Amino acid sequence: MENIGYHTDLLEEDIIVSSKMDDTLESVAGAKKYYIESYGCQMNVSDSEIVAAVLNKSGYRGTSDECEADLIFLNTCSIRDKAEQTVRNRLQQIKSLKKTNKGLVVGILGCMAERLKSKLLEEEQLVDIVAGPDTYRDLPRMISDVDGGQKAVNVLLSREETYADISPVRYSSNGVTGFISIMRGCDNMCAFCVVPFTRGRERSRSADTIVAEAKEMVDNGFKEVTLLGQNVDSYRWSANEKLLGKNLVEAKYSDDVVNFAKLLELVAKVSPSLRVRFSTSHPKDMTDDVLEVMSRYDNICKYIHLPVQSGSSSVLERMNRTYDRSWYLNRIDAIRKYMPNCAISSDVIAGFCGETEDEHQETLSMMDIVKYDMNYMFFYSERPGTLAAKRYTDDIPEETKKRRLTEIVNRQNEHALERNQAIIGTRQIALLEYTARRSNEQIVGRTDGNKKVIIPKGDYQIGDYVEVEIESCTQVTLMAKFIKKIDL
Ligand code: SAH
Ligand code: SF4
Ligand code: F3S
Repeated sequence: MENIGYHTDLLEEDIIVSSKMDDTLESVAGAKKYYIESYGCQMNVSDSEIVAAVLNKSGYRGTSDECEADLIFLNTCSIRDKAEQTVRNRLQQIKSLKKTNKGLVVGILGCMAERLKSKLLEEEQLVDIVAGPDTYRDLPRMISDVDGGQKAVNVLLSREETYADISPVRYSSNGVTGFISIMRGCDNMCAFCVVPFTRGRERSRSADTIVAEAKEMVDNGFKEVTLLGQNVDSYRWSANEKLLGKNLVEAKYSDDVVNFAKLLELVAKVSPSLRVRFSTSHPKDMTDDVLEVMSRYDNICKYIHLPVQSGSSSVLERMNRTYDRSWYLNRIDAIRKYMPNCAISSDVIAGFCGETEDEHQETLSMMDIVKYDMNYMFFYSERPGTLAAKRYTDDIPEETKKRRLTEIVNRQNEHALERNQAIIGTRQIALLEYTARRSNEQIVGRTDGNKKVIIPKGDYQIGDYVEVEIESCTQVTLMAKFIKKIDL
């Protein structure tokens, strides 16, 4: 499958994640076929698997061929302007399909649907369905409205929906790694960010259903799960009737409340052969008890994505990130205290409103201190309705934003190379994920620290854990030799 996430080594602000429906699903005579493409973050990839489950239950069948589809869904992203442009361009291509297939139904799902609501129907005439992220159970009804000659819009946000009872159809997976969404929405208000508006209030999914889903993955041969949330550290859930449905954010940890550290431990205990990853940690909420749990379980990967956004306290304040430079550095120290070899990645925004040259330098110096293994780097793109759009002027000229981003990317490339070179000669455990696209003779795996590692093909297969010795590297990839298979 396509690499999920954002490219780190390119000067691209938005990368499409195009997960194509596998048509291995049993075909049913006369069943209408749907095709889904996902854009944006891992949450959308995970949501598309929920959408597939909802549609299959209603008798539809998936296809990976858009030309034979009766329904095309684009699960969209609004995080930067370019993300939305990509979807609009894709709609232009779909227009020609609609010319040859008059009955084709086109649906926009996800964050762009939520942000633009029925305006999307006016702006993009070929769109028939606009469905926000909390309305996927309602898709069969929306489709029948369209069959009846109407357009359908549902963008209601929910305070409860977590799709906890829906078993996702993991069509976008390689059968080795998969996602579980543990929460939805976001209650933070980072000034630049559209997510609180497109995904609604934060809510945690029941720990029981998360653990059950992880068990199901193990039973189905999966070897790695990534627990997903915009801010996993504020996960809170309780089975206690008195606490159920209450806002537990302020509730103190007790036996009754499952916080993220506890959840992580519950999932890690499902099976020693299941690697556990998670994303995204928020610097203001990442606690030592999470780090302590990570350090105790071999199957919790020693990798943390801890987006800094900026190295400057004054920019962080304008961004409303609610931590400053020294707080962030304290969290980095804590990670290294518990897990000296833990890999760390981040997100960085160049050219936020009012960013001075000195403030930009502070981001570079932050990078010099942390030496991130990976970084997802963007230049600031103003989003309508956000705090920043209301409070500040998007005053950094585009050339300056781009120049600063280039400096950040160059610095990151140096650090990534340095971090990779530091493990040449060491032995690492890799989980083998897929055959290399460039050569059938190579197989691609991932180290515990989330680094891509390539080994020659041999007497092992996708889904195996292998011990490898790192021989050489680039900024983004490790080349290694096989040592032995590992049974976990
Ligand atoms: N919940 C995660 C981030 C989700 S969005 C967190 O809090 O870290 C992923 C990344 O996109 C953000 O971390 C940020 O770096 C970037 N981003 C969000 N809004 C942006 C904007 N308006 N312009 C540029 N980059 C943005
Ligand atoms: Fe956006 Fe901030 Fe929430 Fe992340 S924590 S999704 S950046 S508002
Ligand atoms: Fe994009 Fe929505 Fe994810 S805006 S980054 S798809 S939460």
